[in-house]
Amino acid sequence: MKLLVTGGAGFIGSNFIRHLFAGRTGLKVVNLDLLTYAGREENLADLAGHPGYQFVRGDVADRDLVAHLLADGVDAVVHFAAESHVDRSIGGADPFIHTNVVGTHCLVEAARRAGVPRFIQISSDEVYGPVPEGRQAGPDAPLSPSNPYAASKAAADLMVAAAWRTHGFPGIITRCTNNYGPWQHPEKFIPVLAMAALQGSEMPIYGDGLQVRDWIHVQDHCRALEAILLHGEPGRTYTIAGHNSVRNLDMARRILDLAGQPGTAIRHVQDRPGHDRRYDLDDGVTRREFHWEPRISLSDGLTSTLNWYRCHRDWWESLTKTSAEKRRHGVATT
Ligand SMILES: NC(=O)c1ccc[n+]([C@@H]2O[C@H](COP(=O)([O-])OP(=O)(O)OC[C@H]3O[C@@H](n4cnc5c(N)ncnc54)[C@H](O)[C@@H]3O)[C@@H](O)[C@H]2O)c1
Repeated sequence: MKLLVTGGAGFIGSNFIRHLFAGRTGLKVVNLDLLTYAGREENLADLAGHPGYQFVRGDVADRDLVAHLLADGVDAVVHFAAESHVDRSIGGADPFIHTNVVGTHCLVEAARRAGVPRFIQISSDEVYGPVPEGRQAGPDAPLSPSNPYAASKAAADLMVAAAWRTHGFPGIITRCTNNYGPWQHPEKFIPVLAMAALQGSEMPIYGDGLQVRDWIHVQDHCRALEAILLHGEPGRTYTIAGHNSVRNLDMARRILDLAGQPGTAIRHVQDRPGHDRRYDLDDGVTRREFHWEPRISLSDGLTSTLNWYRCHRDWWESLTKTSAEKRRHGVATT
């Protein structure tokens, strides 16, 4: 199997590539990543020199480069590359439009012209907007994004869906709830909590902290993506959930307890504008069709993730130092 994976130097993409290579022979992966502030080649240092793995630094919106990478034929494109942080999109949406919308459009066009047989668009539960208590959003729920990041992902998803309807382009959309696990950028919610707990520093929480998010370990997400890559049906949208709904404030307390730092202060700061109160996905179809379900309990996953951040202090310290924008107001769940 030969794949073009985009954004494979980021959090989920690097975990996905590593997951695919484990226990598989004959796999070839070209990883196209611009190495923005969020991407690190060292996230896949263990694959450097592997004969099936090639890293290419470049922009998914670079039509010539993408056409060149697809010229020899691939079995599938798996598209992770994105600007992914909601707070940054509120501060300025231009890079989100460039990568998430224009970049996805360029990739879809290039893949269509090259006759790529399968295209996986990795998307998010945020495109559905807030889900009221007691309800779940299924794959076909209406899109109602609340922030520029979510709007840019929804736009990209619609381009993939439209290419299927217009041209029969074999796009598949996946929408997952919040991921956590190793190699997640320090600006995201669980890493911020883990780093604060490990350092014994204050934890800033947006608003009342009662926003609810569903959490899935990245390895479980990767297993679902692998099943969809191999057996998913073109033109379909698949939702993926962990069914671990937790209020942000409770997640902060849980990580403090796990780290043995229950006395660390939680500081409530002004809420993020347009902050969705709750997400929740119905992923029954994905579970039934692929005989998939998460294997890592939230309790085990949080423990191993905290240990990972404990053991990779150099990694996150270098990223927090080099990150162009410092977190000033609060911590976001995406
Ligand atoms: N993290 C989550 O909880 C979550 C949940 C659901 C869906 N998603 C989606 O999964 C995908 C990956 O998310 P993540 O958390 O790993 O993000 P990330 O920010 O960790 O990684 C994004 C990667 O994309 C690369 N990139 C950015 N712009 C690029 C461009 N123009 N060309 C090529 N590469 C570029 C970055 O260098 C980085 O390596 C995104 O599409 C995101 O919307 C994430």
